[in-house]
Amino acid sequence: MSNPASAVVSVTGLSKAYFQGGQNVPVLDGLELSVRDGETVAILGVSGTGKSTLLNVLSGIDAPDSGSVVIDGQDIARLDAAGLARYRREKVGFVFQFYNLLPTLTAAENVMTGWEAAGKPARKGEHAAMEILDALGLQHKADRFPEQLSGGEQQRVAIARALVKRPALLLADEPTGNLDPKTADATTALLLAQARAFARALIIVTHNPGLARHTDRTLVLRDGRLVPAEHAADVTRGMVA
Ligand SMILES: Nc1ncnc2c1ncn2[C@@H]1O[C@H](COP(=O)(O)OP(=O)(O)OP(=O)(O)O)[C@@H](O)[C@H]1O
Ligand SMILES: [Mg+2]
Repeated sequence: MSNPASAVVSVTGLSKAYFQGGQNVPVLDGLELSVRDGETVAILGVSGTGKSTLLNVLSGIDAPDSGSVVIDGQDIARLDAAGLARYRREKVGFVFQFYNLLPTLTAAENVMTGWEAAGKPARKGEHAAMEILDALGLQHKADRFPEQLSGGEQQRVAIARALVKRPALLLADEPTGNLDPKTADATTALLLAQARAFARALIIVTHNPGLARHTDRTLVLRDGRLVPAEHAADVTRGMVA
């Protein structure tokens, strides 16, 4: 019997539709997902299948129409606005395609925003920021502003900001989609290694089926549900990339 306490993510019957062209179009349709403590999961799927929608629901940015979304033992679909805001600040780290760093703050200060938002003691913020920047190979660039950093370095700062609070769940939506292939591979390797060290579970949306070799599991989002990649012949034919 599975032990629910060891699941960081437990989603059942998740449905969400958008009103488009005068009718409700289902995007997520009875989706199920379970991610264990310590697990890393990649999600592939053609454009428009709902990958970002799923991450937005898991992070509490978007509300589902129905279903239960239990993260770290808490059904976030039942939280009120204040509860959701707190959940987002304390439990979730989010890495976006376009970094979203604050241009007027240094790398270290950007990372500290993640620490302070989670309600951690401000006096320990600098130490925590330097520890994670060090893990990401950026300790010597802590005082630089985002415009003084390369794209790959900016994304490493964004990863540090998401991980500094040691989130239950790290979500990454095409985090290397804006980087050249070599930098993308190096950044992905760092993201996976540090997610394993600083977060309890990782879900990464990617258009790169090669990433599948490096995560514990790869799933494909299709027709509103997740299927194991090995059951999705279009992945092996490269049609998802
Ligand atoms: N706020 C919205 N209002 C209406 N429709 C939306 C909204 N957000 C997303 N959609 C629609 O929902 C579907 C899924 O969008 P989503 O952004 O989740 O796809 P995706 O799999 O992340 O695609 P991509 O790989 O291009 O990023 C699309 O058909 C999109 O047009
Ligand atoms: Mg998307």
